[in-house]
Amino acid sequence: MSTTAVLQVPTTQVTNSFETLAGRLQTRTARVGVLGLGYVGLPLAMACADAGFRATGFDINPERVDGLVNGVSEITDVHSRRVMQALHEGKFAATTDFSALPDMDVLIICVPTPLRKSRDPDLTFVLSAAEEVAAHLRPGQLVILESTTYPGSTEDIVLPRLQAHGLKVGEDFFLAYSPERVDPGNARFKTENIAKIVAGVTPRCRRLAASLYSQVVGGVMEVSNTRVAEMVKLLENTFRAVNIALVNELAQMCKHMDIDVWEVIDAAATKPFGFMPFFPGPGLGGHCIPVDPIYLQWKATIDGFVPELIHLADKINRGMPRYVVMRVMEILSEAGRPLSRTWIHVLGVAYKKDVCDTRESPALEVIKLLRERGATVSYSDPFVDSITIGDELLESKRPTPQLLELCHLALILTDHSGFDYEEITRQAPLVFDTRNATRGIEASNLRRL
Ligand SMILES: NC(=O)c1ccc[n+]([C@@H]2O[C@H](COP(=O)([O-])OP(=O)(O)OC[C@H]3O[C@@H](n4cnc5c(N)ncnc54)[C@H](O)[C@@H]3O)[C@@H](O)[C@H]2O)c1
Repeated sequence: MSTTAVLQVPTTQVTNSFETLAGRLQTRTARVGVLGLGYVGLPLAMACADAGFRATGFDINPERVDGLVNGVSEITDVHSRRVMQALHEGKFAATTDFSALPDMDVLIICVPTPLRKSRDPDLTFVLSAAEEVAAHLRPGQLVILESTTYPGSTEDIVLPRLQAHGLKVGEDFFLAYSPERVDPGNARFKTENIAKIVAGVTPRCRRLAASLYSQVVGGVMEVSNTRVAEMVKLLENTFRAVNIALVNELAQMCKHMDIDVWEVIDAAATKPFGFMPFFPGPGLGGHCIPVDPIYLQWKATIDGFVPELIHLADKINRGMPRYVVMRVMEILSEAGRPLSRTWIHVLGVAYKKDVCDTRESPALEVIKLLRERGATVSYSDPFVDSITIGDELLESKRPTPQLLELCHLALILTDHSGFDYEEITRQAPLVFDTRNATRGIEASNLRRL
């Protein structure tokens, strides 16, 4: 999609680019384009619209765009009513037509950054979005990368593509990095009230990006360069992954020593300083915590520094689905039943509570392992209608008393608030709870991680 023609930029346009855009941002007349309308991009587009900017979402997925154009949101945190209202007020539009990119004053890239099968960073989406932006870039635009990626990506990957057609960063156009910190399903902290870290390739780039975000979100922390901002996000998520690995190992240790890990964590959490509770579970999931530390590990290794803690944490966390299956086998064996002749009903397959996202969900791995060992597996998830395991499509079933009584073991993998844990424990012959969702319930058929 790129062109090799060098853009001729009139001098007056160059001089005015910064002032004009700064003025439009101040008066909220700037048009904001968001590339990628997923868990990050859609809430951001809505936050911009709520702040009074006109936001346009660009996505390569026609079904997603069709849904949004008709006021239907697939993202749990953005209610369809909110999309409908923003459409109605002319504050939001969605399209697959990237030829409208030059109409935007600001372009924010919120596309996925997954891992390849080889567990290397896959920057295909960032590259294609950057190529799209580069092909349509006009003087006076501010481009912001929000996707999580390794330090150096903004300046080494995005910048060269944007400058390829003759425009100069900091003069003709502006480039910034601002990591997204949204936590899907978190009712207290949303895009609007989480402070943003902002860095620019030049000071003017940073000032423009800070000006936008300070009007849209709950606060802005400016940092000196884009590599710092990229590293901030990786520190935040690596911190979580490492601490979760610690409690996952502690849970296994406690089981070995016959100590209740949940009670230990609750008691430790009463310390008002120097401790922060993290909770064990069946493994890591979602698009961020299992993935982002690997971006950091990959980049550090390429740069000649081999991090050890990230590797170890990843190993422990990725071993949790197998540990859960081993515990299921132990629990069944105490009841005199082999896994191969067992019906296990899983409660929750989303990677965390009250969201519909199953990306990297440990439940998928647990179900796969159970089935490989001959168990029959069904599941209930109020947020996830179906999942694919191998070539097979499984559909969510309602956790009726009949179903729970008939299965041999109910396995709680996600602690959705909609499940009635008292009823589940009363009805199922055996319950294995990997999330402490049954906190406070005492029953002889109940086992916890
Ligand atoms: N999901 C989270 O909780 C979360 C939180 C913070 C940061 N992040 C980061 O934000 C980024 C986006 O994550 P997400 O969860 O929103 O992903 P997502 O998969 O939910 O959404 C991404 C969207 O981008 C679209 N897309 C792909 N290529 C495109 C292109 N070239 N142009 C336009 N649209 C394109 C996809 O069709 C999809 O709709 C990732 O880097 C992720 O690590 C995610």
